Parts: sequence; C-alpha cells; structure tokens
Amino acid sequence: KKRIFSGVQPSGNLTIGNYLGAIKNWIPLQEEYECLYCVVDLHTLTVRQKPAELRQRSLNLLALYMACGLDPKKSILFLQSHVSAHSELAWILNCFTYMGELNRMTQFKDKSQRHGDNINAGLFTYPVLMAADILLYQADLVPIGQDQKQHLEITRDVADRFNNIYGDTFTIPEAFIPKIGAKIMSLQEPEKKMSKSDENENAFVLILDPQDAVMRKFKRAITDSDREIRYDEQNKPGVSNLISIYSSVTGKSISDIEKEFEGRSYGDLKETVGQSVVEMLNPIQQRFNEFSSDKEQLNLILKENAEKAAYMARKTLSKVQRKIGLLPRG
Ligand code: TYM
Repeated sequence: KKRIFSGVQPSGNLTIGNYLGAIKNWIPLQEEYECLYCVVDLHTLTVRQKPAELRQRSLNLLALYMACGLDPKKSILFLQSHVSAHSELAWILNCFTYMGELNRMTQFKDKSQRHGDNINAGLFTYPVLMAADILLYQADLVPIGQDQKQHLEITRDVADRFNNIYGDTFTIPEAFIPKIGAKIMSLQEPEKKMSKSDENENAFVLILDPQDAVMRKFKRAITDSDREIRYDEQNKPGVSNLISIYSSVTGKSISDIEKEFEGRSYGDLKETVGQSVVEMLNPIQQRFNEFSSDKEQLNLILKENAEKAAYMARKTLSKVQRKIGLLPRG
C-alpha cells in the first residue's frame, strides 16, 4: 500500500487556500492509501508564538482536519512534537543538506524579509525538518499546494544523496499538486498567494469565516477594468483567481465556467463564487463546532495516533542511525 504524508502548520486560522490546495485533496486518498496527516507544530516555532494560543490552535487544527473529513480511524492524525523522531532525523539530515541549497529557497527569502527582526536558524533549516517529516514514514506521495513544491524537491535531493552514500534507505517521495486550486491568490492583490498572515483581512477567506464575511470579501475582490469573464492569469489575475476558486469548489471545468458567465457581470461572478464557497464551508463549520468542543476526545485521538506514528518513525530512524554509525543503546 502506498504511503501518504502531509501537514499544515497551526500558525493561524486556515484559509480556503489551505483547504483547496491541500486538505481537500487528502480526503479521498484515505480510502486507498495509508495516510499520515500531521499538525506540524514544531514548524511554527520559527516565528514567536504565544504558548497558550499555540496549544489551542494545535488542538483546533486537529478538530478542523476532522471537520474537513479526515477520519482518525482511517488515517493517522497526529502532532509533530509528539513524535520525537522528527527532531532527531532533522538533525541528521541537517548534516546532509548544503547551505547553498537552503539559500535558494524562495520561502526563506520571503520570510526573512517579513520577519527581519528574527531571522533564526530554524527559519533557514525549516525545509530539513519538513524532509524529516516525510522521509521518516517512507512516504510515496505528498499532497501539497504549489508553494511547497520547492521544499519537496530539496527533500528528494537530500534523500537521494543519503541513499547514494549508505544504500537504499529512504523512499523518494513525489509531490501531488492539484491541477486546479494549487495556488489560490489574494482577493486584494491577485498577483500574490492567499496567505493567512496577510495584514489585509479582505485578502483571504478563512475556512471558519462566517457567511457574511465570506460574501463581503468576495464582493470586494479586486478584478480589472474590462468586463469580460475569461481565464487569463497574465492579464486578468483577479478574474482568473475567482474562476479557479469556483472550479475547484464545484468541479466545473474552466471552459464550462466561461460559458456559464458569458455576457454576465463581475458582480454576478463574485456573488456566485462567494455563494459556492459559503455552501462548501457550511458543513465544515458545523462539524468543527462539534469536534472542537470535545477536548478530551481530541487529546485521546492525539495520544493513540502518536503511538502509531512513533512506531513507524522509529523503524526508519533506527535504520538511519545504524547506517551512519551511531552506536545502538543496547
Ligand atoms: P502551510 O501550513 O503553509 O500550508 C499548508 C498547505 O496549504 C497549502 N497552501 C495553499 N494552497 C493553495 N493556495 C494557497 N494560497 C495556499 N496556501 C497554502 C500549502 O501548499 C500546504 O500544502 N511547510 C508546510 C507544512 C509542512 C509539510 C510537511 C507539508 C511541514 N512538513 C511535510 C507536507 C509534508 C507549510 O508551511 O504549509
């Protein structure tokens, strides 16, 4: 059976970009594959976090995973920090990753510009921890949005390098990036990716945004000065983003959508897309309210799943330790 691994940072409220680009595509994989979906709390430490908030967000992200349709009976849903092998393998892989490779990461360049007062070593070696997450479980497939593609490539390079020195140790993972929805753009600056850390709240739609906020944000979405509803990323990024969102939400093809809106107004498009998103989010929000209120249940799921994950992780970590010459404790 193929293995799947992916994760989201509990670093804020999730946007429809996180859902359409990643989580939504995780759901059907559960039926066929052995899936691990992680709340990657260690990754959030690259930015200063308030402890009480981080705890709350980690638990809420598990509830949100479940609300989106991830089932802890089918998939292993767990917290990264509960399995210490992630940190242990990350250190080892740090010694197999070059500064030059990490220097080329566009996300590091962006983030170090935004967090100029705290450019810590963790921010720099962040992709190595991500590589450890994936390689520990010998994942075949990693379902992610476009912005994580470069991190997956470095993961493959490091795994390949290690395998060449010590013989077959890691499965080389493939990225699984959806054709539509892999890069949802900001509703205010459609040349930029939609991000939960944008300071303009109208730029993103949160999975947990109430209906009126969703509609308001779509109505304010930036389009352009002509009036044709046509997919053209280059010349019509705002309209194209709305079409992509609608396509990803409804499963309709781009060309069918262009036909559907022939001769209609931008106002109409925004209203229809907003409505489709509201309908998509409604059941998720209801289930989130149920799941997030039962903290005991959530903690129990984390405990049971961490044990399963730790067992799998330990196998790879032991193999790596043995190969590189670390003495077993005995
Ligand atoms: P994170 O938490 O930033 O985002 C989680 C997932 O959401 C996708 N995504 C988007 N997709 C489409 N449009 C957008 N605007 C958008 N914004 C975010 C991301 O591509 C991602 O798939 N480093 C990762 C977390 C991570 C991870 C891993 C992922 C840590 N270890 C191992 C996969 C495997 C991150 O920061 O994602």
